[in-house]
Amino acid sequence: MTGHLHVVEKNLSPGATQAQQGACRLRVETLAKTFAGHAAIEDVSFDVHDGEFVAVLGPSGAGKTTLFRCMTGLLAPDNGGVWIDREDIATLRDRSRRRLAVVFQQFNLVSRLSALDNVLAGRLGYVPAWRGALRCFTRADRLLALECLDRVGLLAQAGQRADTLSGGQQQRVAIARALAQQPSLIVADEPVASLDPNAGAGVLELLRGIARTDGVGIVCSLHQVHFARAYADRIIGLSHGRIVIDGPSSEFDQAALERLYGHRDSAEPESVEPTT
Ligand SMILES: Nc1ncnc2c1ncn2[C@@H]1O[C@H](COP(=O)(O)OP(=O)(O)OP(=O)(O)O)[C@@H](O)[C@H]1O
Ligand SMILES: [Mg+2]
Repeated sequence: MTGHLHVVEKNLSPGATQAQQGACRLRVETLAKTFAGHAAIEDVSFDVHDGEFVAVLGPSGAGKTTLFRCMTGLLAPDNGGVWIDREDIATLRDRSRRRLAVVFQQFNLVSRLSALDNVLAGRLGYVPAWRGALRCFTRADRLLALECLDRVGLLAQAGQRADTLSGGQQQRVAIARALAQQPSLIVADEPVASLDPNAGAGVLELLRGIARTDGVGIVCSLHQVHFARAYADRIIGLSHGRIVIDGPSSEFDQAALERLYGHRDSAEPESVEPTT
């Protein structure tokens, strides 16, 4: 990581803080979305490269979910765009969409299906529709799904119904499903918000491992600054819909924390060790 944390005063030139060796997995450019005259996000630009794990921080209402909904194509921005592997998300066809995997706060598993069948859903973008409808997957797809479950430590639970798994296990199945998609990019809006600290740390460790091992770009919003500092390579700070901080997580210091969340005398939820 060659960049230095910088406070963004004006527009961020995409990827300005990042080493440029890797392929650009995600480009977000001058993104804006307004609801009823209120700008939820404004002029948001950044790049994510392969193997990079980016945490998005910011107070409630800063625009994180709006940004994530635009990044996944759920919401059409008023201005700007999103490119995955240099393809415009607005025009991604079904088979290209599999390059984008989404992990949700509430896991979004099919509760009555087994862990394995949920992971196989990650292969739906690769099989003809009729096969998917009949859940008629190839042996290779099944082996891949089992491998993905193994990677998240849940091979023994392959046959267990999703709704009987713990929250931490369900999120691991969701990550295995994302892995089975063999994506270029994983985006996750608050993936650990429903988990206890240990399970949350386990999930973030898995995501970091996937970025490292598979060269996947990962963008993940969090409310826990200490998690972002421990697991992410880079922190993007959103405030009032704009990027105000973008840089290596190791350089996210007390001043950055206060800039992002404001200064509080007694009720500060977290503090940051001064960097030396
Ligand atoms: N569909 C919508 N209609 C109207 N306003 C919306 C809509 N979605 C978001 N907003 C507004 O946009 C702003 C940003 O909301 P957003 O959900 O993106 O924030 P957030 O950073 O994800 O917050 P949190 O940390 O609480 O999840 C808020 O003021 C919110 O009320
Ligand atoms: Mg949100």
